[in-house]
Amino acid sequence: MRIGIIGAGQLGQMLGFAARELGDRCTFVDPSRSPPAAAAGDVLQAAFDNSAALARLAAECDVVSYEFENVPVDALLEIANQVPVYPPPAALRHAQDRLAEKRLFEGLDIPLPAYKAIDSLADLENAVADIGLPLVIKTRRLGYDGKGQAVLRESEQAAAVLEQLGPVDLIAEQWVSFDFEVSAIGARSVAGDVVVYPLTENRHADGILRESRAPVDQPALATLAEDYMSRLLHQLDYVGVLALELFVVGDRLLANEFAPRVHNSGHWTIEGVAASQFRNHILAVTGRKLEPPTLHGHAGMLNLIGEMPPVGNLPGGGQLHDYGKDPRPGRKLGHITVVADSAIERDRQLAEIVDFVTNSTRNQGPAT
Ligand SMILES: Nc1ncnc2c1ncn2[C@@H]1O[C@H](COP(=O)(O)OP(=O)(O)O)[C@@H](O)[C@H]1O
Ligand SMILES: [Mg+2]
Repeated sequence: MRIGIIGAGQLGQMLGFAARELGDRCTFVDPSRSPPAAAAGDVLQAAFDNSAALARLAAECDVVSYEFENVPVDALLEIANQVPVYPPPAALRHAQDRLAEKRLFEGLDIPLPAYKAIDSLADLENAVADIGLPLVIKTRRLGYDGKGQAVLRESEQAAAVLEQLGPVDLIAEQWVSFDFEVSAIGARSVAGDVVVYPLTENRHADGILRESRAPVDQPALATLAEDYMSRLLHQLDYVGVLALELFVVGDRLLANEFAPRVHNSGHWTIEGVAASQFRNHILAVTGRKLEPPTLHGHAGMLNLIGEMPPVGNLPGGGQLHDYGKDPRPGRKLGHITVVADSAIERDRQLAEIVDFVTNSTRNQGPAT
């Protein structure tokens, strides 16, 4: 089959490799000159909403998918009567607007932090009174890797925070002092079968994912996450992989956001599971049966951000993925995965790799 994919970053690259393994081919649309996914398929160099490029994709491909969340939904709808577009554009519409996303969670009885839509200083003052401080203020659209966010700690700073985020639609959220963060990654096929991967623990720094570990050894939380995942997948009549980010507070899970695509916190599934998130996404969007997420062991993943370490000297056990991108502070350039027989051994190997990467690079911090 020929699969059209909008976006040709590292997620596209890994989708392309999975497609090849299944005997499929990918064509990507991306404005960059030599994007990571060029290593895994053909690239049409064009803007994500370029009508001519999308029309060509629709004409040449059996199905169109996307690996990038800011594809204009209208551009997808334009081709959706010519070719199946998965995940459904309606899912993307919800994910692109934090307010719509939160209302969706509420409608499905999925617990979430208290929030309010913010259109004015008065709205923000009301949010401070109703929810309390600190508050996380986020742009409703286009945020990623912690960008488009600010924490309001004192009510006197309200006007300054609004100024900082600019004249755009905002929401204010209760600051959650979570025990840790997790993500649930699930897939649903055209026939409606669902697969949910083992729950993943995620550590962020400055809003960017640094480390993931799986499986989280807390069966009650995993069951809860699977339940929320299933509700979302069914409600959205979803096809493909979806990632749901959650905060763990005691024995509760609070939904933070979802991504209608393969996700950085699921990179460990390439080595850690018999069928990776990329493989199941390709199987789903091409109308095939999903494969079970049988675990190979305890997995850990470290993102390589800003600068690549000298890979020749990498401590044993780590599997390196180099996306082939130019280094830039704050940019995700690759990742390393370890898989071990026990959580203790996994943590030991990951710690060794973290030490190595931290000591051999200067730039693993946020963009400056
Ligand atoms: N309400 C909150 N309370 C505490 N931490 C938060 C909250 N919202 C976001 N964060 C932190 O910031 C990170 C990035 O925020 P998120 O809403 O996931 O936006 P992004 O689209 O940038 O991933 C989260 O993974 C979490 O670590
Ligand atoms: Mg997030």
